Amino acid sequence: MLKAVILIGGPQKGTRFRPLSLDTPKPLFPIAGLPLIQHHIAACAKLQECKEILIIGSYTTTQLAQFVNDMQKEYHVIIRYLQEFTPLGTGGGLYHFRDQIRAGNPSAFFLLNGDVCAAFPLKELWTFHEERPSALVTIMGTEATRQQSIYYGCMVREASTKAVTHYVEKPNTYVSTLINCGVYVCSLQVFQTMAEAFQRKQDGFYSANGQNSPHPGYMSWEQDVLAPLAGTNKLYAMQVTNWWSQVKTAGSAIYANRHYLELHRPKQPATPPCHILPDVFLHPTATVDSTAVIGPNVSIGAGVTIKAGVRIKESIVLNNATIHEHALVMYSVVGQDASVGEWSRVEGTPSDPDPNKPFAKMDNQPLFNSDGRLNPSITILGAGVVVPAETILLNSIVLPHKHLTRSFKHEIIL
Ligand code: GDD
Ligand code: GTP
Repeated sequence: MLKAVILIGGPQKGTRFRPLSLDTPKPLFPIAGLPLIQHHIAACAKLQECKEILIIGSYTTTQLAQFVNDMQKEYHVIIRYLQEFTPLGTGGGLYHFRDQIRAGNPSAFFLLNGDVCAAFPLKELWTFHEERPSALVTIMGTEATRQQSIYYGCMVREASTKAVTHYVEKPNTYVSTLINCGVYVCSLQVFQTMAEAFQRKQDGFYSANGQNSPHPGYMSWEQDVLAPLAGTNKLYAMQVTNWWSQVKTAGSAIYANRHYLELHRPKQPATPPCHILPDVFLHPTATVDSTAVIGPNVSIGAGVTIKAGVRIKESIVLNNATIHEHALVMYSVVGQDASVGEWSRVEGTPSDPDPNKPFAKMDNQPLFNSDGRLNPSITILGAGVVVPAETILLNSIVLPHKHLTRSFKHEIIL
């Protein structure tokens, strides 16, 4: 029997995603028609041996209850949400709930960061791990560029055995282009290593009288567990070459949307309601005029209304939004219940990885550049925003419930 743990953090995390997570917790933001972590759940549930999925985070239970219920019904596997009483870090929560993870004595458990997107080759990862009896943890790794690697966990591997000999979390200078994807398989004995790390933390906490220390239960999986395991023949890395990405900024949602759509190739209706350029996810309850043109890389949520002559590409339109006649939406996220007026143009700038650099990842650019100007990125309309007719909105972020009265470019509209 296997289990899976998904780390989702809490409302204090994922601040760079904030314009999109004001109404919905980031792990539930829909990408290619499914909440972000439903992609993880689907991958875990595909494995027959995986009997339980534990979601660990510090969101309140009420924020997650409905989702967990729905997932449980859809995937027929036990799914539970375990709430941390305070953010305990990537390792602290795992250690705190160790008894729940060990219950039923699984052979191993998968550990997945909730904010990554990938095809999740869990079966291969599990086989790789099983083939190395001394392994406590196997990390899914991928290649990054030299410059970008330092934003991730970096590891050096022994070529023949694939054992990790050196691990540095977000190093200051270049260590290796092999980076940690935030997807792991772990043997239960890893809790022994965690107990030792926990003890060290406690000693440090009390000898410093708790001063300037985070909560004593706080532990970093990467720094307190993975780094000490490197070089002991207990940590391995399996390198993958297919698509993988983090979801940190709003721009990365559009990038992830495109790739998840490509991966899943949603079935198009037998008689499409309008001209569709694949890949498109169209919720069956959306009302679409036959003269609209949608795609490529568009996800349309439940209850959305799309009127005559509308053009939408490279965008996510959330539930119950309305796009009025002849409007254009490109590289944008349109929030729930938002409305885009007739002949208006809502347009953003893609922030894709550099296509000329092999292994380049998306740059998770901050909102503002060093001159204090907004970096060009996708346009976001918060929930309930109203864009009047015949206006242009370019590279802007509009916070929820704002009724605009004119055009804007490169602005955050509060
Ligand atoms: N439950 C819980 N509690 N989850 C947490 C907490 C916490 O206190 N802190 C972070 N998480 C979750 C986040 O929601 C995210 O899904 C995951 O743990 C990783 O957290 P970050 O702290 O944001 O790390 P990161 O994404 O910058 O880096 C990690 O992932 C990279 C790959 O995406 C590291 O593991 C890197 O080494 C790795 O390259
Ligand atoms: P935020 O709360 O939005 O910062 O998300 P987070 O809590 O997940 O932040 P994380 O722990 O990932 O912090 C990583 C830091 O690396 C950020 O504060 C960024 O300033 C910095 N960074 C800059 N460029 C990049 C990039 O391209 N990739 C990543 N991963 N980090 C970057």
